[in-house]
Amino acid sequence: MIELKNVTKVVRSGTEDLTILDDVSAEIPDGQFVAITGASGSGKSTMLGLIAGLDSPTNGMIVIDGEEITSMSEDDLAEARSRKIGFVFQSFHLIPSLTAFENVLIPMEILGLEGAKDRANKLLSDVDLLNRGHHYPSELSGGEQQRIAIARAFANNPKILLADEPTGNLDSRNGSHIFDLMTELHIEHSITLVLVTHDASLASRAERLIRLKDGRVVADDLLS
Ligand SMILES: Nc1ncnc2c1ncn2[C@@H]1O[C@H](COP(=O)(O)OP(=O)(O)OP(=O)(O)O)[C@@H](O)[C@H]1O
Ligand SMILES: [Mg+2]
Repeated sequence: MIELKNVTKVVRSGTEDLTILDDVSAEIPDGQFVAITGASGSGKSTMLGLIAGLDSPTNGMIVIDGEEITSMSEDDLAEARSRKIGFVFQSFHLIPSLTAFENVLIPMEILGLEGAKDRANKLLSDVDLLNRGHHYPSELSGGEQQRIAIARAFANNPKILLADEPTGNLDSRNGSHIFDLMTELHIEHSITLVLVTHDASLASRAERLIRLKDGRVVADDLLS
């Protein structure tokens, strides 16, 4: 379970303090598929980055599976992240000098996982790109690059997949394909999926919808 308890994030903007997340509380049970929506600047990426432990809150705490990540050292946090969390970005973030296969393989090699090459091939096949493993990111379309990024996010077998506008740089057909793929992986691996999207029709396909406005939760609904 992911728990956010009265999480506030204040940043310094010029001479003033800016509250970009304001007393956000939420409990996300294991295996839930949550969409986060809200206008540009409402705090969606900030919230995701805090859950990922990429940033720390000014006030409040974040607890993942009973572990308070907000009080962990950098090393413990990095370790917890690599054990539990996969992250997919809007703009893919693949390493351009590595092939698709190597991009998926790298996190597993870093973790020293056994059978890493077989698993990388399995993940490429899950995203239907086994035959493109030897290609470099620049040789792949946006949708294909995002599928590689998703395969890579699954490399550490995460319990939690955080995705920040994973379809934002794709046309609606490719976006819908990526969304379907993430939904399938969510079901197949029973992972918790927290997905940020501007797209109301995609968001409506999640199990739960959290809407942010000016850093506050203004709606939190289970969808049927
Ligand atoms: N380090 C920072 N310093 C100053 N302001 C920041 C910082 N990080 C974020 N902000 C501001 O906080 C607000 C929320 O940012 P955030 O990136 O979370 O929004 P978002 O909902 O993800 O928006 P978008 O849909 O455009 O990606 C924005 O107004 C942004 O400019
Ligand atoms: Mg954002």
